[in-house]
Amino acid sequence: MRCMIPGLAICLSLAAPAALAEASVAEYRAALADKDANPGSLIIEKGEMLFKTKRGAKAETLEKCDFGLGAGKLKGAAAQMPRYFKDTDRVQDVESRLVSCMVRLQGFDEAEIKKKLYADQRFNEDNTPLEAMAAYVYAQSDGMALNPPKKHPKEKEAVKLGEALFWHRYGPMDFSCATCHAEDGKRVRLQALVNHYNKKDIQATVSTWPTYRVSHGAMRNMQHRMWDCHWQMRLPDIDYGSPAAVAIIAFQADQARGVKFDLPGMKR
Ligand code: HEC
Repeated sequence: MRCMIPGLAICLSLAAPAALAEASVAEYRAALADKDANPGSLIIEKGEMLFKTKRGAKAETLEKCDFGLGAGKLKGAAAQMPRYFKDTDRVQDVESRLVSCMVRLQGFDEAEIKKKLYADQRFNEDNTPLEAMAAYVYAQSDGMALNPPKKHPKEKEAVKLGEALFWHRYGPMDFSCATCHAEDGKRVRLQALVNHYNKKDIQATVSTWPTYRVSHGAMRNMQHRMWDCHWQMRLPDIDYGSPAAVAIIAFQADQARGVKFDLPGMKR
């Protein structure tokens, strides 16, 4: 057998199934570094289309949604969230803000939206509009430094509450987030667990969400990760965009402050 393509793995892949697996891993790794090959880019495009489409009872687009920098100003907005919003009198992240705008501007029913938040990977579903639009809004902060405001008392309170929740042990396993995520070098099976108190580690994590999860075949956002890790702790589902979920995300953002977004991410 001749090697047409330089690179041992690709060479061997023509020869034997075991080597084929090796080649796939090499390709997968290469794909992780190549944004054009990230399927998340397509989902961001879909998100943009949905964002600019007239939808809901009021047949409006989301182009007037204010993510903190003024109506319709998306560039860099996600890099300054979670933040306090006067109209809802709450600290919000991108995901919860999207829901507010869908309700207020487009006339969607909040309970109705929350019936279907995420694509179910077991059924190979496409991302929900909410997942796609969140990915789009975050992507408008790609390359920008994360620096959410911490001036309003509710912004300060959210970070504090998030850290307290991070350490709070509950549920049948008596786990806290800190059980798995407050030390270097911890693993569950083969998965390395992010240490929220290691600046480089938490920065690498926060800057790459929303992320395309290869094992889900779908784009996921941090609200989904919160839901997933609450499941890891065998806790009831955490409410999407709830003050508790946003507080944990505000704490993470504060720990990761200064990092530049590198979107869309791509993970296991
Ligand atoms: C029983 C252990 C466990 C607990 C407790 C736990 N997690 Fe996780 N967490 C995981 C695992 C496993 C992953 C997936 C790692 C992977 O697939 O690479 C993960 C992934 C994450 C990620 C994504 C990391 C990245 O680099 O993208 C974040 C953020 C996170 N967890 C936050 C939390 C928070 C916040 C809590 C508490 C609400 C929590 N976790 C509780 C096990 C846990």
